[in-house]
Amino acid sequence: MDRIRIVGGNALNGIIPISGAKNAALPLMIASLLTSDTLTLENVPHLADVEGLIRILGNHGVDIAVNGRREHQDGSYSRTVHFTCRTVADTTAPYELVSKMRASFWVIGPLLAREGQARVSLPGGCAIGTRPVDLFIEGLTALGAEMEIDGGYINAKAPKGGLIGARYTFPKVSVGATHVMLMAASLARGTTVIGNAAREPEVVDLANCLNAMGAKISGAGTSSITIEGVTSLSGARHRVLPDRIETGTYAMAVAMTGGDVTLSGTDITLLDTAIEAIRRAGAEVSAVDGGIRVIGHGDAIRPVDIVTEPFPGFPTDLQAQFMGLMTRANGVSHVTETIFENRFMHVQELARLGAKITLSGQTARIEGVTRLRGAPVMATDLRASVSLVIGGLAAEGETMVSRVYHLDRGFERLEEKLTRCGAIVERISD
Ligand code: UD1
Repeated sequence: MDRIRIVGGNALNGIIPISGAKNAALPLMIASLLTSDTLTLENVPHLADVEGLIRILGNHGVDIAVNGRREHQDGSYSRTVHFTCRTVADTTAPYELVSKMRASFWVIGPLLAREGQARVSLPGGCAIGTRPVDLFIEGLTALGAEMEIDGGYINAKAPKGGLIGARYTFPKVSVGATHVMLMAASLARGTTVIGNAAREPEVVDLANCLNAMGAKISGAGTSSITIEGVTSLSGARHRVLPDRIETGTYAMAVAMTGGDVTLSGTDITLLDTAIEAIRRAGAEVSAVDGGIRVIGHGDAIRPVDIVTEPFPGFPTDLQAQFMGLMTRANGVSHVTETIFENRFMHVQELARLGAKITLSGQTARIEGVTRLRGAPVMATDLRASVSLVIGGLAAEGETMVSRVYHLDRGFERLEEKLTRCGAIVERISD
């Protein structure tokens, strides 16, 4: 199993190209199940989760052609992938595939809308809480589907003639359930109005792509989305939006180590709340042509309290990284997690680097320390693992991060991007 070795202490200076967003690419790829034409996606990141979903979609009959990566001057790659699902080969998503990645459960929406039925295993994914599927069941039931749980699977069946548009308000905001409702309602008869919809930029990206395919969706990005059903969707060409979580992660790394880095190919408006928190912590962050410039001052980090919330609040996917930054603040800060109940697994590992963190319910109290010291640590989930990398970059001496397959699920060419900016980071394959 691969490990990542970091020798901390260097400031970061240079350009870090930001990849396409994993959390946008996954639902966009799944949307290819809605049409027999070709959906072409540009800026698709090369990540374990994307490759996993490619295999899953192949199982449903999607033909996939990947255009070689192109290298740009700033070191960025971009991949264009063509997805064509002439006919759906299989409406079952088996446990072996769905258990590896929660988002693959979302195939239930397009399969049900296009084929009138789906049998999808209950999901697995990151161990960051129970992550139930009740909202998917309620939402699709509102569109007329019969939903039944049987032997670890959900059997979903649309009424004769297909799903029927309806008004449905989520009792709780869910990104995944909003994606699924957008896809399912696009091919339903009549109009659907979703209340309390997720407002994440990735939802807007999916709606834009579906509209390019012929869907009639308005209001994405607000909490009320209207979808007028159409009888069929066509192919389209769409560029995956930049990864705001990767953007925020590197911005926090620079705030922590000090230095001057331009994050290219990204957009500051995708993560206002996180940028505000990074600024309050003392880093200078500004929009520049085609990206964001971050100037960090290393030792002069100020304590900042944050609370994770659905968009536009502080993203839960940046919580661990921000806690990493706060371990070196000049004072006490608090990080409160409201989205997932078990998302503090990085606390114990950050403590191995010398961080002083105490947990009380869903709030962590972080007492900043003047220095962290490198240590062997273990990645526990996708975002937690990158907080250990950030910690390692700022720690004295060597940090060895094991179980880096978690990182490979969501961070494209992490060691290469950091090394180009002066960090000492290497992958060790045993
Ligand atoms: C997506 C993101 C993930 C991010 C999360 C919250 C992708 C691939 N993943 O995950 O990185 O951390 O949004 O921003 O885009 N819930 C229920 N019932 C349901 C569905 C969800 O109670 O049927 C709960 C979850 O347990 C959680 C909350 O709703 O507490 C939010 O989850 P949700 O927004 O659905 O997360 P994902 O879409 O899985």
